Amino acid sequence: MDTPALPVLPTWQVAARRTVLLEEGRSATLRPVAVGDADFMAEFFASLTEREKHYFFWLDEERARRLALDIERDPSFRLIAVGEHDGCVRVLGYMFLESKDEGPPTFGACLHPGAQSRGLGRAMIDHLLTSAAESGLDRACLTVHPDNWRALRLYQRMGFVLTDEFVNTHQRVKQYRMEADLRSPRPAITEEVTVVPHGHLGIGVAAARVQRAIELATGWRPLILDQPAHPTSRVIHVAEFGPLAGTPIAVRPEWQRSVVTVGWIVTLSPGHLLIGGSTGPAADLAARRFAELVAETSTSQQRSDGTGSPLRLERIPFLDLHVCFPADPVSLPVAPSR
Ligand SMILES: CC(C)(COP(=O)(O)OP(=O)(O)OC[C@H]1O[C@@H](n2cnc3c(N)ncnc32)[C@H](O)[C@@H]1OP(=O)(O)O)[C@@H](O)C(=O)NCCC(=O)NCCS
Repeated sequence: MDTPALPVLPTWQVAARRTVLLEEGRSATLRPVAVGDADFMAEFFASLTEREKHYFFWLDEERARRLALDIERDPSFRLIAVGEHDGCVRVLGYMFLESKDEGPPTFGACLHPGAQSRGLGRAMIDHLLTSAAESGLDRACLTVHPDNWRALRLYQRMGFVLTDEFVNTHQRVKQYRMEADLRSPRPAITEEVTVVPHGHLGIGVAAARVQRAIELATGWRPLILDQPAHPTSRVIHVAEFGPLAGTPIAVRPEWQRSVVTVGWIVTLSPGHLLIGGSTGPAADLAARRFAELVAETSTSQQRSDGTGSPLRLERIPFLDLHVCFPADPVSLPVAPSR
């Protein structure tokens, strides 16, 4: 039987080499990987610490060299940033878009440990995705660890949204799957509110519902992160708790009616809202209910003021939603459809 052919990436029309200025007055040249970069790539992978290996991956010398040597047969888009570090010219960053299976190509990114947090990540991803879009690519996907907040900030600013979660097989840890429409304009991000998921599989998707609801109502997309985006950011916690918290969602039938079905939307303080459930599905139900409430609220708000500024967030009273604990189930019982 024939194996299905991999989707073919369009020919990458890279803009001419681009030099970017980094913080602290340093500069780097962005350009595609070339056959002559074998030593460069080997040295780059050898420089990675455990942290980069955990969040990205690692290649031994042979495979790192191959990456450059095989570049002319490789349909992927591979971009490097070259610049000076510790008195030597070396690869400061490497990003790619590659097709491994059906679906949009996968994006990956890693900077040299000495080149992080200086704006290079943002410059590179912007260059790569803009070039890919101009070459005719319409979508890209990626995977990221939920605690990799720097990467999450970067990706969400570039338009990636959380679509799914899974446990990776080699580390046995949760990762988010994200996807971006490369033809859409980059989203307007607000740091006034952060959506912070707490829990196992499914909780990130519930958080994404909350994020989408806020964006639909206000035109501003809050970040999903594991901590507030800014010290003054208001936080919407989307949480799975109760006896099953932290376990994958395989629920024993005898628990289904009691534990699984209880969700809450609770104002913790003027700046903190909790959307929670005793399991991931219950938290997701609460998130759906939240989305409905925000939609109802914003429809009536739009009628009254019709504006689209981030200040409207102040006037959307989602932080004043009714409190609903099991002891006081009158205001917002979140129940599953049967
Ligand atoms: C993730 C990575 C590519 C980001 O690139 P970077 O150049 O370090 O990040 P940038 O300087 O462009 O900043 C990205 C975001 O993090 C913020 N940030 C970066 N360093 C920060 C710091 N020390 N303190 C606070 N915020 C910081 C930036 O402000 C920016 O957010 P914003 O756009 O919302 O303001 C890079 O750090 C990296 O390679 N990390 C190790 C490997 C890895 O995690 N790869 C990703 C696998 S999915």
